[in-house]
Amino acid sequence: NQYQKGVKHLCENGITKVPSKYILPLPERPHSNKAEQNVAKANLKLPIIDFAELQGPNRSKVLESLANACEVYGFFQLVNHGIPSEVTSSMIDVSKRFFELPFEERAKYMSADMNSPVRYGTSFNQTKDGVFCWRDFLKLMCQPMSDVLPHWPSSPVDLRKSAVTYASETKFLFLMVVEAILESLGLKGTTNKKTEDIDEDGIAKEFQNGSQLMIVNCYPPCPEPDLTLGMPPHSDYGFLTLVLQDEVEGLQIQHEGKWVTVEPTPNSFVVNVGDHLEIFSNGRYKSVLHRVVVNSMKSRISVASLHSLPFQCVVRPWPKLIDEANPRRYKETDFASFIEYISSCEPKRKNFLETRK
Ligand code: SIN
Ligand code: FE2
Repeated sequence: NQYQKGVKHLCENGITKVPSKYILPLPERPHSNKAEQNVAKANLKLPIIDFAELQGPNRSKVLESLANACEVYGFFQLVNHGIPSEVTSSMIDVSKRFFELPFEERAKYMSADMNSPVRYGTSFNQTKDGVFCWRDFLKLMCQPMSDVLPHWPSSPVDLRKSAVTYASETKFLFLMVVEAILESLGLKGTTNKKTEDIDEDGIAKEFQNGSQLMIVNCYPPCPEPDLTLGMPPHSDYGFLTLVLQDEVEGLQIQHEGKWVTVEPTPNSFVVNVGDHLEIFSNGRYKSVLHRVVVNSMKSRISVASLHSLPFQCVVRPWPKLIDEANPRRYKETDFASFIEYISSCEPKRKNFLETRK
């Protein structure tokens, strides 16, 4: 049907009202109560982690802030990350131009196959969603790069070049951030390792072979933004997500029981804890619900880079993080069953796999 073609296509055909397919039930709308309306106006400044400072003499202090951000917010803003601004601005720019291509050109990349190296689509899960979201997306699998690259869009002509550079820069940054995260959990830089200890350097290496998925999101202006959402409340299944957003706000996170808008900060990444890291940390770091609201004035572009361990990995709390004071909170499972479990849940699911004996 026509909605499968996406919101950009819908807008191009000129609409002044939101079609019923996108209208959420009252309680699920972005401003479902007055109190929230006020809160949403007060934007949230996420904890700032200075990546350059992390590499210097203040590392341990920054690690403390990092741990606190992951415990309390599940999110932080990464600044001075070292990725040249030309790389991030070209990625945003080429993404904008991709969504401005004629519909027929974008439609070449539509696929129902979840494992396709490239997938253009709309809503959150367009095969399942009863109410559709005000969002179109382009998903790009990033490994193995030599296999997936020939499938990526050939138009705009500079898309592959910009996206490959962006993917490798974010992967490198992710690996550095993971090292810091492991250290912030007390898992690295520890001396007198017992021989039977599982090697944390090993897990850091495993991430190099882990999976990376880039999701380019486009949220066109919406004539009635209070009736719908760009993305429903969800948490990310992977280990960490690095989000690059343009200057238009829209991302909201659940914090202290309220939805708060993450203020866009130039030259930074919004980084969030995924479900897998929550389990890995035995619940110490939180995979927090977030959603996207839309507006009537401006189109918004974001690029989320999702990083996970290899498909063969085991999902479990890291043994060293379990002790008498911190009993095991999650069952152990293989990654495939974990993904299957997660995709069978509503976007709003939480506390999956919890043992809670
Ligand atoms: C998300 O990836 O969950 C949201 C990205 C965005 O800010 O649009
Ligand atoms: Fe997300």
